[in-house]
Formats: sequence, C-alpha cells, structure tokens
Amino acid sequence: MNELISKAISMRKRARAPYSNYTVGAAVEIANGNIIGGCNVENASYPLSNCAEQSALFTAISEDQTEIKALAVATENGGFPCGACRQVIWELCGDIPIYICDKDNLIIETTSKVLLPNPFDVRKLT
Ligand code: THU
Repeated sequence: MNELISKAISMRKRARAPYSNYTVGAAVEIANGNIIGGCNVENASYPLSNCAEQSALFTAISEDQTEIKALAVATENGGFPCGACRQVIWELCGDIPIYICDKDNLIIETTSKVLLPNPFDVRKLT
C-alpha cells in the first residue's frame, strides 16, 4: 500500500467523532512528495464540524504546501467525499486523482472532475 493511502487510513485514529462515531481520515500528496493528513473534527453544534478532507487541505495550505497532486480518503465503509468537500477539493486542487479507501484498503480511484462535473469556480466570476 502506498504512503498516501496508508496515511489516510491511519488518520482515522485521530478523528474526533463522538456524535456520529463515523471516523474519517484523509491525506494529500504535495508535488514535493510531502504527505499531509487530516481527520474529521466534530462539534456539539453539529454544522461546525470539519470534514477530514478539508482538515487535510487546509493544513496543507496553512503550511504553504499548495501544489496538491492527489488526495486519499478513508472510512470504515468506503464513503465518498461529501458535496461541500468536492467543491473545496476543486477550488484548491483542480482535477486530481482521488483514492477512496475502506478500513483496510484502496477500493476505488476516481478524480475530482468526475466527482464534481460542471464545477462552479473562478472562471464564472471573471
Ligand atoms: N465527513 C467527512 O469527514 N468527510 C466527508 O466527506 C463526509 C463526512 C464526516 C463529517 C462528520 O464528522 C462525519 O463524517 C459524519 O457525517
């Protein structure tokens, strides 16, 4: 298993998910080879919870690791990124490979373009 996928799977252990008990791990690969992880962080005020994908992406941006080449997301049962995450992935990464994993393995490879056809982005604002 490659480092990106094993990082996403291992990041589930960092999840703070006391309300849903649905732990999500994510990892992004940077052009320089760095791997940065994230996890979901829930809040008693549910809408304030943060998804794992966005945790990983925002950490990468905060560390000036902006050239994001791939993303992996891991859940117990192979869940796909939610709609909000798809928009954030498109905004920050463009069209990149996305690896969907369950608790022990990669189960499918897709892309951000496939997950978000006809995206709304800066091109509509200029
Ligand atoms: N969650 C993610 O971390 N990523 C997604 O793309 C879908 C949902 C989290 C949010 C919440 O903590 C839990 O999964 C259940 O919705």
